Amino acid sequence: MGNIRVHIETFGCQMNKLDSETAAEALLRAGFEIADGPDSADVILFNTCSVRQHAEERVYSRIGALKLAKRQRPHLVIGVLGCMAQKDGELVFRRAPLVDIVCGPRHEADLAELIAEARSGRRVLALDNGRILTPSPPRQARRGRMGGEGRERTSEPARASADLIVADHAPPPYAERDGRTRPSPFHAFTAIMLGCDNFCSYCVVPYVRGREESRPPEDVAAEVARLAESGVREITLLGQNVNSYAFGLPQLLRRIHDTPGLERIRFVTSHPKDVSDELLAAMAELPKVCKHLHAPAQSGSTRILHQMNRRYTREHYLDMIGRARRMVPGIEIASDFIVGFPTETEDEFMESVDLVRRVEFNQCFIFKYSPRPGTKAADIPDDVPEDVKKRRNTELLAVQEVVSTRRNRQKQGRIMDVLVEGASKNDPGKLAGRTDGNDILVFEGPESLAGTIVNVRITGSTALTLFGTMNDER
Ligand code: 5AD
Ligand code: SF4
Repeated sequence: MGNIRVHIETFGCQMNKLDSETAAEALLRAGFEIADGPDSADVILFNTCSVRQHAEERVYSRIGALKLAKRQRPHLVIGVLGCMAQKDGELVFRRAPLVDIVCGPRHEADLAELIAEARSGRRVLALDNGRILTPSPPRQARRGRMGGEGRERTSEPARASADLIVADHAPPPYAERDGRTRPSPFHAFTAIMLGCDNFCSYCVVPYVRGREESRPPEDVAAEVARLAESGVREITLLGQNVNSYAFGLPQLLRRIHDTPGLERIRFVTSHPKDVSDELLAAMAELPKVCKHLHAPAQSGSTRILHQMNRRYTREHYLDMIGRARRMVPGIEIASDFIVGFPTETEDEFMESVDLVRRVEFNQCFIFKYSPRPGTKAADIPDDVPEDVKKRRNTELLAVQEVVSTRRNRQKQGRIMDVLVEGASKNDPGKLAGRTDGNDILVFEGPESLAGTIVNVRITGSTALTLFGTMNDER
């Protein structure tokens, strides 16, 4: 019999993409193979997102679609990883009886063992701290780690659905990744912190990802050095709120800045209340730090921001933008917005519209409010009708599109640095890469330029893409 082949499908944010890499590489080290696709896989893992209900529904419908595959290949193991696993625990088994493994964040390193258990016919549940949001937590199960020293196996069939429950607080799975499963050879994510302490009233993340935990700067620096040595040119430091990195984000940026081989450093996401002058000064001063800030506003209305527990006002936000633009000339700012938060009036929505017009973000992600069970906002009636949410969403997107189109047009004629990622997805005859400000730039050139930074003169644009020609003058 050959190796067990695993297919991983990832939903949600960049942290999930990184967790999928961590899981894939842990499985490779344990002797598994990566399948070419779901059809040839022995194990299909869904790394899930719980931020909005829609993301959860998509996963359930993907799992439902595997009914026939499971009938034809009874040995097929289906696993649910990530936030939805942590949030719903064994409710996942009840909603999706085809599922064999439910494994929350931080347990990726246990997957090889969990899969072995599942292949011997048991249903396994592995949760960080056994902390789940939706149903009651596992009842009589003794809690313990599996295998190894001090890791105790809990195998009593405590509940109808799970046969094996792992429910401790696993060490952070900062992997010794070798990059085999990284989508780009030149770009890598690095987690600098896990969890979130902000408890924005709409957000499920603090419940499923737990409290903030910062990774020691020497560990981050060592990983960045390793990655750069293996060919990575651009690093994105990840955390739900990197500005509250316990050892200081500006200090971390300075510490890793001179890593040999590294050309660019980004970081996401920034909470607007925590964007300090010290951070902005570091961005202005350190040439490798990209002049790009993702600082989600969420709303332009102070009353709604208060309801959201964001702990800044519209004025504070605008002040932060002013400081950023003054201290870091040319900075590009991206944002997220939620429309249709409970009680949001038309006037309050218009304040978001006004903010988008006023700030001129280079990119906005806009979401319809989705009540998340267990969060504070879920106690307020979800009173903005779906069609109103939809309309506000479309309207705000349209406003941002006008802004993006205009801003991109203004970039025409300028010369920009682009880190070449490779062939353009939409136009394989051309190259694509990102500018310092995180714009996508498509231009003609030889594929041998992949992984290098080149100067491109901007000659055309749409709302989402810049086009250009390589600049021979410099
Ligand atoms: N409903 C809609 N959007 C949400 N987000 C977070 N929680 C919710 C929710 N309950 C959005 C926020 C956040 C982004 C990642 O997802 O805008 O910045
Ligand atoms: Fe959620 Fe707010 Fe934390 Fe972001 S800062 S993860 S929106 S609670």
